[in-house]
Amino acid sequence: MKTVFNTEFNGLKLAGRGKVRDIYDLGDSLLIIASDRLSAFDVVLPDPIPRKGEVLTKISIYWFDQLKDIIGNHLISADVSKYPAACQKYAADLEGRSMLVKKAKPLPIECIVRGYISGSGWKDYKTTGKISGIELPAGMKESQKMPEPIFTPSTKEEAGKHDQTIDFEKAEELVGSKTAEKVRDAAIALYKKASDIAAKKDIIIADTKFEFGFYNDELILIDEVLTPDSSRFWPKDDYEIGRGQKSFDKQYVRDYLISIKWDQKPPAPQLPKDVIKKTSEKYLEALKKLTA
Ligand SMILES: Nc1ncnc2c1ncn2[C@@H]1O[C@H](COP(=O)(O)OP(=O)(O)O)[C@@H](O)[C@H]1O
Ligand SMILES: [Mg+2]
Repeated sequence: MKTVFNTEFNGLKLAGRGKVRDIYDLGDSLLIIASDRLSAFDVVLPDPIPRKGEVLTKISIYWFDQLKDIIGNHLISADVSKYPAACQKYAADLEGRSMLVKKAKPLPIECIVRGYISGSGWKDYKTTGKISGIELPAGMKESQKMPEPIFTPSTKEEAGKHDQTIDFEKAEELVGSKTAEKVRDAAIALYKKASDIAAKKDIIIADTKFEFGFYNDELILIDEVLTPDSSRFWPKDDYEIGRGQKSFDKQYVRDYLISIKWDQKPPAPQLPKDVIKKTSEKYLEALKKLTA
């Protein structure tokens, strides 16, 4: 199975490499390629995961379409034949894993919505009774559904640094009150609609991260949307409160990395073949379940 770890498209202007995506600047638009790189604990692992980039791209496109009535998004096209001429010689590598998008000014915050208490939110709740400064009912159990989804923003740090959870006031300081309110309301509305759709497919979206940006003064949804990389997806039939959940996402890889007691600092260890294979299968399963 051919994988893409890295792209080198000579003649196109590389704008940056994220943990997962390579981004080329085409002027008013960006070409975003989802590689098969996998990051865990904010560190890129050395092994590509077969078909991961394709799965992430297809899931994002699915959600952009389902959610476009709530807020506009950056997608221009995912049809490579409609990309600018300069991209055409790379068509084989672009097919299925790329998007042509509007070049926006990303906000410096990550817009996280949590419907269930898990991960770092669970940790914060256990020690403080709060997440992102939001008081939650006492006595909640791990993986329990929140009374209402909550907005728990974080800073957006550069590669290698961990994003920091912030409260709403800090988000207001970073992006302005009006914008903070807008993205909070949009993020919660997006989460609610997506959760309802996913529930019909027996998937619980425990939490997810959105990014927004300005394009010609208009606030739009950018980046990837509701993928297993940006979200916790849980199979409904295995859901039980009071413990961590099995998931479609990279929790599987995280569990492996925790089991070998990796210190979560680069360089990341290689993954065993069966972890790679099962992770690839997990991503495909998520795509099939969601879009079936
Ligand atoms: N439409 C857009 N305009 C500008 N920047 C974008 C757009 N969509 C996504 N981005 C940025 O591109 C990067 C995506 O690459 P990714 O590998 O996900 O990076 P990261 O390691 O930051 O998660 C993110 O930094 C994101 O903010
Ligand atoms: Mg990202």
